[in-house]
Amino acid sequence: MATEPRTTSQPAALRRDRQLELYRRALKTLPGGTDSNFRAWGDDTIYVDRGKGGRVWDMDQNEYIDLRMGYGPVILGHNDERVDDYVNEQMRKGVSFSLTSEDEVRAMELVKELTGWVDMARMTVSGTEATMHAMRLARAFTGRNKIVKFEGQYHGVHDYALISVGPDNMSDLGDADKPVRLIWGRGIPEAVADTILPARYNNLAFLRRLFEEQGDDIAAIIVEPIMGNAQAIMPEEGFHAAVRAMTEEFGILLIFDEVKTGFRLAKGGASEYFGVTPDIATFAKAMGNGYPAAAFAGKREIMELLPDKVSHGGTYAGNRVAAAAAVKTLEILRDTAALETIHRTGRRIQDGLREVLNPSGVPYVFTGHPSMFGIMFIEAAPTEYRDWAKSDHALYDEVAIGMFARGAMPEPDSREPWFLCEAHAEGDIVDRVVSIFEDSFHAALEGRAHGATPEAAIGAMSHPTAG
Ligand SMILES: Cc1ncc(COP(=O)(O)O)c(C=O)c1O
Repeated sequence: MATEPRTTSQPAALRRDRQLELYRRALKTLPGGTDSNFRAWGDDTIYVDRGKGGRVWDMDQNEYIDLRMGYGPVILGHNDERVDDYVNEQMRKGVSFSLTSEDEVRAMELVKELTGWVDMARMTVSGTEATMHAMRLARAFTGRNKIVKFEGQYHGVHDYALISVGPDNMSDLGDADKPVRLIWGRGIPEAVADTILPARYNNLAFLRRLFEEQGDDIAAIIVEPIMGNAQAIMPEEGFHAAVRAMTEEFGILLIFDEVKTGFRLAKGGASEYFGVTPDIATFAKAMGNGYPAAAFAGKREIMELLPDKVSHGGTYAGNRVAAAAAVKTLEILRDTAALETIHRTGRRIQDGLREVLNPSGVPYVFTGHPSMFGIMFIEAAPTEYRDWAKSDHALYDEVAIGMFARGAMPEPDSREPWFLCEAHAEGDIVDRVVSIFEDSFHAALEGRAHGATPEAAIGAMSHPTAG
């Protein structure tokens, strides 16, 4: 290999000494060496030192352009001084009182202002809690028990969400006409799983049949407006509007899980972007620039079941740090052109990638929105989770691994989109991402041509990727 001339740069050997040492130490205390299954990457588990803007440094001081951005929350950039200064100022007053501070009210007022349709909202600490409470509210409002969810969509790690999420093997999902409830992991009671009805994204005929058969028992359908857990697969033209109309026909509530899309696709999130208003929505990620701010929100008649008729609480709900972060982040997103900058940066990167990919003859499509997009090596645009299996995801994985070694960090699993932040517009980041991709893509193709195994940098990955 070393004697063959190569047109692409050789990847640098990543330094791993300190991280491997910490991994071995962590394994004795944290299962998998991490606080989330999705970060447990075996010997390649990354231990972070710091981030700044669109860049991140691991403990061995390898520097990367960060294309994961913590799975989406860091919308402005790491260590954004505008947000951090305000959070610091507020937290010096004390952080946890289980009393309500003005920032909590301001944060939820901003959610109302930016979305334009939300009447009332409450903060939670995570997206998981937000979707759990949204489902409970829907059940309480309708008096029905079942929730429809799409295969391949991720709504967090509570029991009701972990059904038909993201298997590698599509046959685990069952027959396309009669999908099974695939429970992810042990410990979820069948009785809970039985309340979740899996459906197929972008398939209105399937949904109508389900509503006709079981509509009287269905409280809500929960939807990730863009399938963030599967390379940001987009809804087909008019899909959300048709789902909205169908839910109204059957008296079923529509929950938009905007944990990834909220305050990212547009100031008003996916509901503004697609022009469709749900009954309930969940927000997290971009609303706090990485601080643990989340919320569930909705129409007044539903939200007013709180506080008397539906349970919701939380020692840390609306805590000082999260509320301050949400206020400042949402103000910045409201008052500046940050989102335009992010969308433009995403389009610039895509333009550069097209110049690399078009001459190669390898079929590909960009999925998603420029602010969170995937690259799928496939002939036709995917419409549902099952389509991911038809793509050459092994090629994507090889490219992603090569990018790590060259100084950029996309999620090394083709199902997770690249997330862009405002700070990615700075300096030569766009050009570097494109040239790192170019070198990694060509190296992966050359490797295939020579029958080589992928460049080893990052090993066992678990999916889905959530936090
Ligand atoms: C669409 C969606 N919903 C819910 C969640 C869960 O959020 P959290 O990780 O904050 O619990 C995620 C996390 O990735 C998500 O992408």
